[in-house]
Amino acid sequence: MPPVQITINNKKTIIVNGGKSLLTTLADEKIFLPTACGGRGICGLCRLKILTGGGNLTDAEQRKLKDDEKKSNVRLACQITVSGDLNIEIPERLLTLGEYKCKCTEILDVASEVRQLRLELIEPRTIDYIPGQYVQVFVPACEKSPQPVSRAYSISSDPADKNFIELIARRTPGGISSTYFFEYLKVGDELKFTGPYGQFKISQTQSPMVFIAGGSGMAPIKCMLHYLKNTGSKRQAVYYFGANKVSELVWPELMRQFEKDLPNFRFVPVIADPQEKWAGQRGLVTEAVKRDLKNAEQYEAYLCGSPGMVDAAIKTLKELEISDDKIFYDKLTPNSQ
Ligand SMILES: Cc1cc2nc3c(=O)[nH]c(=O)nc-3n(C[C@H](O)[C@H](O)[C@H](O)COP(=O)(O)OP(=O)(O)OC[C@H]3O[C@@H](n4cnc5c(N)ncnc54)[C@H](O)[C@@H]3O)c2cc1C
Ligand code: FES
Repeated sequence: MPPVQITINNKKTIIVNGGKSLLTTLADEKIFLPTACGGRGICGLCRLKILTGGGNLTDAEQRKLKDDEKKSNVRLACQITVSGDLNIEIPERLLTLGEYKCKCTEILDVASEVRQLRLELIEPRTIDYIPGQYVQVFVPACEKSPQPVSRAYSISSDPADKNFIELIARRTPGGISSTYFFEYLKVGDELKFTGPYGQFKISQTQSPMVFIAGGSGMAPIKCMLHYLKNTGSKRQAVYYFGANKVSELVWPELMRQFEKDLPNFRFVPVIADPQEKWAGQRGLVTEAVKRDLKNAEQYEAYLCGSPGMVDAAIKTLKELEISDDKIFYDKLTPNSQ
């Protein structure tokens, strides 16, 4: 296919060979758009504007894009095959994202079927990110997946540590990347990731905060708690963490330590179906919030977990009269949605 020209934000022009998706073509040029589904038209994160070129919307775009987005030329980069000149618009902040080479230096089981990975940076040597952001990890080809894939993982480490990041991976039965992390990845292996991505972050107000998370939704909240501690925050904060069983509680001791380190912080683990002895709260995490949270309308809410958990939490918070503009969340969307 002959070379084609891509003009970005009417500022920069690149000449590329056609034939691949726009998402992959841009990544080859070190422009990394967010993606959580590895380019399958499912996550919707690779949105950008196409001012000229690009052809017709695919079925995946018809499903994923809202009507007003379709009218204003929003497209999914993974759904466009580069075959002619394009004029595109990308948020400036995405143009500065980097690709990081790293080495896995520690693997720890931190709860039942949840594993923490420490990735020490090789090149570049340091990273800056906003607590709440995530990276896109490239999982190399292995027996489970003959093609390399990439998946989103939230950063869980202390943002003061610039030479490494930590992630937590929850095992998804039959999942490509989680199987790789649980069964193939070894200390000493090298990996690549891009980022940091995402808009999930703590606001700079002094409003009280309620955090609600489940499963690996713990990752960005832990990172935020480190940030609150590092900045000497005195904000009132309560953190409801939901799990099915006691063994699924991630870092309960560390959360107790945050209760000591942060003057106005309280951790409330909620177990849906405790088979074991359990003196804490029982049931759904949303029920516990509904029971407990007094004067809820004053709070800002930070939610992270499966789409189902986040949607249920939003519904509960609205019933408690917390307004939309005070509810911030990241859905850990699996690749089928
Ligand atoms: C912004 C963002 C941040 C994320 N952060 C984290 C994180 O910190 N830790 C973490 O473990 N994951 C996180 N995820 C989810 C992660 O990107 C992967 O989707 C997840 O690890 C499964 O990937 P996989 O390759 O193992 O499964 P896949 O091979 O992609 O999926 C295999 C099958 O399992 C299904 N499936 C996948 N995930 C789930 C699920 N959660 N529940 C039910 N079915 C599922 C799929 O639909 C598919 O049928 C995040 C996702 C997003 C969008
Ligand atoms: S990467 Fe395009 S929709 Fe997920």
